[in-house]
Amino acid sequence: MYIELTDEQRAAQQTAREFAEKEIFPVARDNDALEKFPAEIVKKMAGLGFLGAPIPEQYGGAGMDFISYAVITEEIGRACSSVRTVLSVTTSLVALTILKWGSEEQKQEYLPRLCSGEIIGCFGLTEPDAGSDAANISTTAKKTGSNWTLNGNKMWISNGRVAKIAIIFAQTDKKVGHKGLAAFLVDTDTRGFSSQPIHGKLGLKSSDTSSLTLEDVKTPESALMGKVGDGFKVAMSALDNGRYSVAAGCVGICQGCLDASVKYAKERTAFGRPIAGFQLVQELIADMVVDTEAARLLVFQAGHLKNKGVANTRETSIAKLYASEAALRCGNRAIQVFGGYGYSNEYPVERYMRDARVASLYEGTTQIQKLIIGRFATGISAFM
Ligand code: CAA
Repeated sequence: MYIELTDEQRAAQQTAREFAEKEIFPVARDNDALEKFPAEIVKKMAGLGFLGAPIPEQYGGAGMDFISYAVITEEIGRACSSVRTVLSVTTSLVALTILKWGSEEQKQEYLPRLCSGEIIGCFGLTEPDAGSDAANISTTAKKTGSNWTLNGNKMWISNGRVAKIAIIFAQTDKKVGHKGLAAFLVDTDTRGFSSQPIHGKLGLKSSDTSSLTLEDVKTPESALMGKVGDGFKVAMSALDNGRYSVAAGCVGICQGCLDASVKYAKERTAFGRPIAGFQLVQELIADMVVDTEAARLLVFQAGHLKNKGVANTRETSIAKLYASEAALRCGNRAIQVFGGYGYSNEYPVERYMRDARVASLYEGTTQIQKLIIGRFATGISAFM
């Protein structure tokens, strides 16, 4: 099967590439060094329709298919994974989740604002003591009259301090385990809701990563997304979309490493000729080519299923696992091609490698993806 982009998908790719080259690349290194959140870029990205790429037009989105969304995400990821993270979280984890699980009122209220970039979203699942074991969160939701009262702490939340709306997962009845979880759409300006920045990260330095504290946060019944007990399914289906976007962004890292390495290897000379002429350098480059193309095809496979609206957890996990590990391998190889220059931020490859590292941690570690894939292969769950 040879995959060819349609005219529409190619146009989306071209627009995203030009935008990334003009608006993101030139500032990515400084934003990284200064840990500066790219607020202006996010607004411009929204203006081009990227934040609402796969959201239907009736809710303010661009109504694109999932392959278009992937190629846009790849181009943004090729320029800067911090910007790509804002896109992935707002569009995949928040907007697509509201589209699937939200009431008509919730869709009307939030989707146009998320798509236009008026507001940003965050996804409050992970806690200080519950990451991979998402069913075991301790944030509680108690019904008090016609309100819900939320208490707990969230950790490693991308967009945590810049989001206006947070999807907060909470336990309503610990006795029933994951069947007690509920998902709430919480305005981050609600009394008792606060966020704290997390500094000192290895990569994604210009994205916002925060912890959240919820102290007697009161939300109305209308903030509930889906029913009480749906929370775990809301989270898992959100992650099916989030992991897809992470995978597409990682293809961008792979492509960025490859492009930078080919250019540098043709310019840099050693022993009287361009280093691109050395077999061991070509091996590094060939391995990047293979990783990039394999990762992209796996993303397209998952995207094809998403376009058909059929189950794609397995294919999304395969794409996320492969692309995130490939991005790290490519980052490492690119630094090897660049030698000492690759170790400094004069070139983007050290940022590619640092930014790639988180992708095999967040939205489900490599190990969790392997256990999901292994369960599909064997029919046996290694989780219990
Ligand atoms: N879509 C909808 N429902 C799903 C689903 C999916 N993809 N996957 C599972 N479910 C449903 C099942 O049908 C099942 O329903 P019933 O209760 O009706 O039977 C229920 O959910 C439980 O399913 P499982 O038995 O498969 O659940 P599990 O306990 O075996 O799952 C796990 C274990 C796969 C490890 C899961 O806990 C998991 O994915 N953990 C990783 C969590 C993660 O990725 N966290 C990252 C958070 S986001 C982040 O990083 C922060 C950020 O800001 C970016």
